[in-house]
Parts: sequence; structure tokens; C-alpha cells
Amino acid sequence: MKCIASATVSSGLAGARVAARSGADRRDLQVAAPFANPLCVALDLAEPEAARDLARRLAGIAGGLKVGLELFTRGGAKVVEQLAATGCGLFLDLKLHDIPNTVAAAVRAIADLPVALTTLHAAGGRAMLEAAVAARDAVSTRLRLVAVTVLTSLDDADLRALGVVHPASQQVERLAELALAAGVDGLVCSPREVARLRARFGPEVLLVVPGIRPGEGGDDQKRTATPEAARAAGADVLVVGRPITRAADPAAAARAILRRLGEAG
Ligand code: C5P
Repeated sequence: MKCIASATVSSGLAGARVAARSGADRRDLQVAAPFANPLCVALDLAEPEAARDLARRLAGIAGGLKVGLELFTRGGAKVVEQLAATGCGLFLDLKLHDIPNTVAAAVRAIADLPVALTTLHAAGGRAMLEAAVAARDAVSTRLRLVAVTVLTSLDDADLRALGVVHPASQQVERLAELALAAGVDGLVCSPREVARLRARFGPEVLLVVPGIRPGEGGDDQKRTATPEAARAAGADVLVVGRPITRAADPAAAARAILRRLGEAG
């Protein structure tokens, strides 16, 4: 079995979302998962060939694969197309943050790729976020836009140094509200924030959650949760990197996580 992104379902719902958004009522929206299951494996590998090999091993298991800055910078659109050929859904994590015109153009370019999910910084501001959403709505019913609020590498002291007077927890909610008001489909958040954001913004917001650790040890991640705890708190997509990519048998590690989630692996 190939892992199939829920393309048919999501394009229908995305179309419904566009129509409903123009009707200025997001509350009635039902959000379908962007991938065939909640597990999205972060392919944080430098070499496109290694990423393709790993993707082939994870085909039929992982719902999605995440391509980040390093792999995209090395492999470009070509590696995205090659990964899509495995049948897994793709998450292109480029965290766009620039003037509205530039971000809108980048979103149009991403929409030309076989990608279901991409990220942008909420801190780019309302005009940038709205330009991104408008660009996406004009060309794609498949691509979901997910906003990063406060990077998990920043703490309250870092924010103060940037001139942000609010603690990180408040700043996350402030930026989340801004991004959702601008029409983005969801948020990237840490396991620590997921329950609060789900309670505040409701079931229609897509919550994408890294920092997942099935066992002991968080590597450099400080705010971690087990896959089942993150799901129970309201996560839609669990982004898992090293616990799978560095496992002796990545496919077995991915299957084990899916079993814990009650998903067929
Ligand atoms: O290896 P690990 O499971 O920690 O990988 C998590 C992935 O999620 C990495 O690709 C990392 O860049 C990404 N990410 C994160 N925290 C964020 C946003 C993205 O760990 N706030």
C-alpha cells in the first residue's frame, strides 16, 4: 500500500473553506486531515538521495513527509517531486517571512509543487498573511497555510531583547489570533501549547505539532510530549524527526508510533 495524501477529501474541503471564508463564517468549517494519517516524518537530511531512500522506506507508513530549509535548499523542486512520487503527502516547511508581494509570489510557486502544507511566520504581519492567503486561494484548493507563532527556540528573555514585552505564552496566542483572522488554516505549536490553542480556537484550526518523543530523551527539544499525549491534547499532525530518522529501522519506528495512536501502521 502506498501512503496517499487525502487529496480528494482535502481539495473538496479546501474549496468549501474558500467558499465559507468568503461568506465570513469559519465556524462551520470541517477540517480534514491533510495526510492519510497524523504521522509526518521530518526528513532533516542534508542529501537529497538519502532523503529519497528514507522516503521509500516510509512509503505506505507515514502519512506525510516534511521537507525543511536544508533539504529544499539542496534539492529544490526536483527533490519535492521525487518525494511526492512515493505517494506520501508533503509538508514544505520554509517559514516564509518577507514583504507581502514576495510572500504571495512564493506561495504561488509552492502551490505549483505537489505539497499539501506549508509554513509562514505570523510575525510577518496581517498584510503579509492576507496576501499569502489570497495568493493561495487564487491558485490552489489543496495547499494549506500554517502559521508559526513564536519559535520554540525563543524564551521570554529573547522576546524582551526583541522588544516584545509579553511573555512567550501570550505572544503565541496574540500571533495565533492575528494569523487565523487573516485566514490561515492552522498553526504550528509545541506540545505545551496545543491544548490551550485547541480550546481557544476550536476544532477547525489545523494544529501541527513538533517536539514529539515516543520514549526517553528529547535531543535538543525541551517541550516534548508522547505521540498519544499530543493527539489527546488536540494535535492534528505530529511532526517526528530524529526518533524515526535515526532509528535502526525507521519503518518499524514509524509503525510503532502509529500503533500507539491506534492507527494502522
Ligand atoms: O528531530 P525532531 O523530532 O526534533 O524534529 C522536529 C522537526 O520539527 C524539525 O524539522 C524541526 O525543525 C521542526 N520544528 C520544531 N519546532 C518548531 C517548528 C518546527 O522542532 N517550533
